[in-house]
Amino acid sequence: MSRLESMRRRLTAQIDGINWAADLIKDIDGDVLEMGLGNGRTYDHLRQEITGRRIWVIDRVLKPHPSCIPPKDDFLQGEAEDMLSKLADAGHKMALAHYDFGHGVKELDVTEGGALSPFIAALMVSGGLVLSQQPLVGFEQIKGPDTVDPERYLFYRTP
Ligand SMILES: C[S@@+](CC[C@H](N)C(=O)[O-])C[C@H]1O[C@@H](n2cnc3c(N)ncnc32)[C@H](O)[C@@H]1O
Repeated sequence: MSRLESMRRRLTAQIDGINWAADLIKDIDGDVLEMGLGNGRTYDHLRQEITGRRIWVIDRVLKPHPSCIPPKDDFLQGEAEDMLSKLADAGHKMALAHYDFGHGVKELDVTEGGALSPFIAALMVSGGLVLSQQPLVGFEQIKGPDTVDPERYLFYRTP
């Protein structure tokens, strides 16, 4: 598979995964969490598909496309573990979390996903959903939309 095809597969998984999750959380109370603002593409899709909920965003840098800058009060700039703890300490709870941190080095990304999992779990409401490119631990893995290769994108429900 070419890198271009791989990118198409990732973007399709993100769009279809977010659309699928937006529908599933309709009856679940809670905010939304974007982990990894980057260019702001997935944040932009989350805010398009999920209205009426607060969308928290974590990144160590603020460098998105100018149209995708989150509201100041909803953006937490800093290291993931510290920012996840800050949200938990303030009592915020998430119905949906999208995990898109990463260095692009598989082993490092897998290790980081595992290390951050308990901090993410502490923020989730029961029955909430977590979407991730990286494997996370301590969640129930569930089947996502039929259009998404289960090896490419992972879907979890919180107990
Ligand atoms: C793959 S990019 C996110 C892409 C973004 N979701 C989009 O659609 O444009 C990953 C982002 O996560 C951030 N990041 C990675 N590891 C982090 C960490 N441990 N703490 C805070 N931010 C982190 C990076 O700064 C980078 O902006």
